[in-house]
Amino acid sequence: MTSELDPVAAHNRSAWDREVESGNEWTVPVGPEVIAAARAGTWSVVLIGHDPVPPDWFPPTLAGVDVLCLASGGGQQGPVLAAAGARVTVLDNSPRQLAQDRLVADRDKLELTTVLGDMRDLGAFGDECFDLVFHPVSNVFCPDIEPVWRECFRVLRPGGVLLAGFMNPDIFIFDADACENRGELIVRHALPYSDLTHLSPEERARVWGLDAPVEYSHSLTEQIGGQLAAGFVITAFRERPHLVGATADYMPGFFATRSYKPETLRPA
Ligand SMILES: C[S@@+](CC[C@H](N)C(=O)[O-])C[C@H]1O[C@@H](n2cnc3c(N)ncnc32)[C@H](O)[C@@H]1O
Repeated sequence: MTSELDPVAAHNRSAWDREVESGNEWTVPVGPEVIAAARAGTWSVVLIGHDPVPPDWFPPTLAGVDVLCLASGGGQQGPVLAAAGARVTVLDNSPRQLAQDRLVADRDKLELTTVLGDMRDLGAFGDECFDLVFHPVSNVFCPDIEPVWRECFRVLRPGGVLLAGFMNPDIFIFDADACENRGELIVRHALPYSDLTHLSPEERARVWGLDAPVEYSHSLTEQIGGQLAAGFVITAFRERPHLVGATADYMPGFFATRSYKPETLRPA
């Protein structure tokens, strides 16, 4: 596991801890009724926006399936998948986000492992120890995502499935203040975008707050090409509008892929 956090991961750790305190939607744990229903066989989880993942993106049964919920804390998907029968490990960079998973696990008596760490370094896990990696929209908080796909490939068993959600990078070309607060779409930023390089500290403080999580755009070459380069085979794709801001009427804000690690290596 990462012993020394890089400055971005350190910043985003405190930032996401604060998001828990302020009640960000993606930090609010599911209630006991959701867990009871999942135990009884009725469940769904979201990967992008509020869109339930199609059931056929999962194995036919989760009983005994080893699942890694990657950068997916908050007491949401991990506990639901555990209640549905999976053996779940949640890795996240925020202690407070992991505490939300523990809260649900303790409240509803679920077996669930939490690991504090960086999505780019899955050194806490051996090779080929998971059947499914569930990775919702969180690589937007990492400057580099090639290690994420490489590590996902390594920890998955042959035939194992990666479900990944990520941002449409085109969202980042717009002036965020105008888009989110005035409903205007003003093209402003050349990609690749980062809050750190494209906004002055003054503007970042005014629009997001200097304490807010820092975001990075990633091209489709990094997202889709990155999965393919790691060795994954992509079998399904979805897109959904962003939940906030003026782009939702014009373009998808989120993409999701289902991919798997082939049993045999591809011919060169
Ligand atoms: C939008 S939340 C995702 C969790 C949520 N349950 C969901 O459904 O999307 C983003 C998560 O990514 C985590 N995160 C940010 N940077 C990370 C990193 N470098 N490694 C691991 N987790 C990270 C945050 O702590 C936060 O819990």
